[in-house]
Amino acid sequence: MGSKKSPKHHIATNSEKLDHLAALNQEAEAAGGKDKISKQHEKGKLTARERVELLLDPGTFQEIGKLVLHRGQDFGIDQQQYLGDGVITGYGTIDGRLVYVFSHDFTVFGGSLSETFAEKIVKIMDIAMKTGAPIIGLNDSGGARIQEGVMSLAGYADIFYRNTRSSGVIPQISAIMGPCAGGAVYSPGITDFIFMVEKTSYMFVTGPNVVKTVTQETVTSEELGGATTHATKSGVTHFSNRNEAECIYGIRKLLSYIPSNCEDDPPFMPYEAKEDEIRSSLDTILPDNPNQPYDIKEVIDEVIDKDSFFEVHEQYAENIVVGFARLGGKSIGIVANQPMVLAGVLDNHASKKGARFIRFCDCFNIPLLVFVDVPGFLPGTDQEWNGIISNGSKILYAFSEATVPRVSVITRKAYGGAYDVMNSKHIGADMNFAWPTAEIAVMGPQGAAEIIFRKEIQRAKDPEKKLQEKIEEYTEKFANPYIAASRGFIDEVIIPRNTRAKLLATFKMLENKVDQMPRKKHGNIPL
Ligand code: HXC
Repeated sequence: MGSKKSPKHHIATNSEKLDHLAALNQEAEAAGGKDKISKQHEKGKLTARERVELLLDPGTFQEIGKLVLHRGQDFGIDQQQYLGDGVITGYGTIDGRLVYVFSHDFTVFGGSLSETFAEKIVKIMDIAMKTGAPIIGLNDSGGARIQEGVMSLAGYADIFYRNTRSSGVIPQISAIMGPCAGGAVYSPGITDFIFMVEKTSYMFVTGPNVVKTVTQETVTSEELGGATTHATKSGVTHFSNRNEAECIYGIRKLLSYIPSNCEDDPPFMPYEAKEDEIRSSLDTILPDNPNQPYDIKEVIDEVIDKDSFFEVHEQYAENIVVGFARLGGKSIGIVANQPMVLAGVLDNHASKKGARFIRFCDCFNIPLLVFVDVPGFLPGTDQEWNGIISNGSKILYAFSEATVPRVSVITRKAYGGAYDVMNSKHIGADMNFAWPTAEIAVMGPQGAAEIIFRKEIQRAKDPEKKLQEKIEEYTEKFANPYIAASRGFIDEVIIPRNTRAKLLATFKMLENKVDQMPRKKHGNIPL
């Protein structure tokens, strides 16, 4: 049990005063006590302080509000005080750059949020905004501190409000490292990126017991809101990590790609330009049969700086690939259709995933590189009833409003509406390249032939042969990049092996791009 006294004592001498402060600091660092710390470790979890130490550059953490006490009066909570009140807040550096951090301490009232707990977080959120530095939340909390009632709800709302005001100004990153229920999930929900730890963390608005009462469903915490569920089914988490150390390493890595605020440029990694930027393997990466899949990540890896791809949402909507990379030492955001999964089609989930990533990059001055190989939008009642019109519009809107440098490479299919949507010239892309294997058309040759030559095929002596002839005719005429190039919709048809060199030159050329949206309060993205 924590101290029942206030930190004020009568101290006779200066030396005793120093000793008293040392004792207070020690008490604060002891958190909820040895037993609770052991329990935390037994679950495979680090303590709040250990997490902060691991996250920041060694010795850089400066704590704020270490001696804060809660003001709760009810249900005997006034008899239980812990210095710091269950959340560690402060600042430090990651790779030498300033960041702010708060870390819930589950050993104190289960990391639950009180009025003063919220005030500590609000204090660093405010200063993070004023100084333009990222804020990282390490979450491990039973939600609103039940003994405090509405004061706790007010505290949550104060945080949500600041999360929203800070959105697009400074990067906000959340790690979920334990239970996060009720109010504890909405703040992470507003932030830019969520990391979860497998088996020890979960997020839900209402837990399995409430679910059972209301819907009669029986579900475990893990099934309802574990890392795998949110990484694969809901897409709530962007990263799912095997353990806390991997999770913290991931946060540090993510920061290496993104700037500290919206006025800043992303960090630059030293890069020595090479004479030979040719990547011959790209010439043979595509199968001859346009209906055979290939892995777009192999294309990405060949084009970007070695081993620099940091994938976001790796297990969610795998038919689109998004992530950060470096090209010539500079950060870029990559959006790519993935022919290996559902032929790279755009569906509800892929559209939302792509749109959110594009908007993050645009907020934070990260140029976009788009690889296009898309047969269209996925048809079907499931897609329509779940709003493919609104969701497809999200990615279209996100690209259209992005003012960062935007470059596309069409490797193969760019059919129908998906051609327009995937960063086409018409929606503001700066440079559009195509490989000679590109097929830019309203639809695939077979579908097209079946529709426009239907009567002719039906009348033919050998309809199958006729269909093949018509498919070939359509392929010859439209399944290539040259009509688009003749119109200037494609700026250059490039040999695949030259892609990296071309993109290095293109992004350099676009480095000083200035573009602005028309003056308005804000747009109305189809949410
Ligand atoms: C006060 C809490 C607490 C809470 C946990 N504790 N949650 N104290 N308020 N919300 C305390 C427990 O009493 C216990 O204290 C200690 O933290 C550890 O909790 P355990 O239950 O022993 O741990 P565990 O078995 O690991 O279970 C963790 C848990 C569970 C799943 C988080 O404690 C739980 O379900 N808590 C309640 C979750 C909840 O319903 N929160 C309110 C959500 S409503 P002792 O002293 O015994 O060690 C909400 C509204 C905000 O957040 C909405 C804003 C939009």
